[in-house]
Amino acid sequence: MPLEVLQQAAAEMTDWHGSGMGVMEMSHRGKEFIAIYEQAEADFRALLNIPAHFKILFMQGGGIAENAIVPLNLSRGGKVDFVVSGSWSEKSFQEAARYCQPLLAASGKASEFTALPAPGSWQLSADAQYVHLCSNETIHGVECHELPDLKALGSAAPLVIDFSSHVLSRSVDWSRVGLAFGGAQKNIGPAGVTLVVVREDLLGHALPACPSAFDYKLVAQNDSMYNTPPTYGIYMAGLTFQWILRQREGTLQGVAALEQRNIAKAQLLYDAVDASSFYENRVSPASRSRMNIPFFLKDESRNDAFLAGAKARGLLQLKGHKSVGGMRASIYNAMPLEGVQALVDYLREFEKSHT
Ligand SMILES: Cc1ncc(COP(=O)(O)O)c(C=O)c1O
Repeated sequence: MPLEVLQQAAAEMTDWHGSGMGVMEMSHRGKEFIAIYEQAEADFRALLNIPAHFKILFMQGGGIAENAIVPLNLSRGGKVDFVVSGSWSEKSFQEAARYCQPLLAASGKASEFTALPAPGSWQLSADAQYVHLCSNETIHGVECHELPDLKALGSAAPLVIDFSSHVLSRSVDWSRVGLAFGGAQKNIGPAGVTLVVVREDLLGHALPACPSAFDYKLVAQNDSMYNTPPTYGIYMAGLTFQWILRQREGTLQGVAALEQRNIAKAQLLYDAVDASSFYENRVSPASRSRMNIPFFLKDESRNDAFLAGAKARGLLQLKGHKSVGGMRASIYNAMPLEGVQALVDYLREFEKSHT
């Protein structure tokens, strides 16, 4: 989280804008919270240039719940094509089997998820209800840098993206997307809020078994207040949106400014890893994530010493996911370039003292 956002939330914790209440104490139907909600929604729409024919839903349940909620709403119990490019899309593929007929359109498993399968190789079915893609695989560090044009690939199905771990780090080409979902806890705010951006024509097709609170149409009709929304999380998300709107890099502003910064941050770290014979990143360059950078010490017996030295310098949470091992630097929007530079300096220092 950006420090400024945390400081603002702390300052407003017990009394929001002179209302005499903290945000956690407000009714979600009161004018104060409605104002917070409407501003957050408008800012998110502006930041990502979301066209008017898409609804923005603030839901609960996180990305894992969306693995069920999306097929419940969009699959009509029929076929769905899945591109499995890492752990998260694999989970989505498995969960969908409870509600529809998931088909494996492509899998990166044979290459141990070190590359996004090339869109030209995807086996898309003629009658799929949608195509699922995780546009940034958080654990494997595989990012889709250009959303596929499904029409050009011969599919009339809408594209569903799980953009949990790179939302707001770059722009989105909405002409190629039917639905995008993402948990808030990487680039937006505290866990507990899930953002869903859905094209209006995809609403209204939920399976009868779909819980009402997860029926996108009902949620949209009620401005995300069919059930009590995660109010404090939405407020924090709103503060982050305002922070992003204030970001500048030269003439760039907002998400464009962050995107430029994210490219520079990732480049700095990849270059340091690639230049060394002590560390390695196994993801093919065209699929490398700007947000999640897994890397390995070639001599893995040094992992514990590496992590201990990092911790001593305040470089935290570098241990890779248990399914992949090694290290992983998650350099989300709020991580400044100086933070990445500090890691790069440590990489060099550790290498020098161990060779
Ligand atoms: C890409 C992606 N999808 C889904 C999830 C699951 O999110 P949650 O644990 O909030 O359900 C995560 C969590 O890290 C993720 O990175």
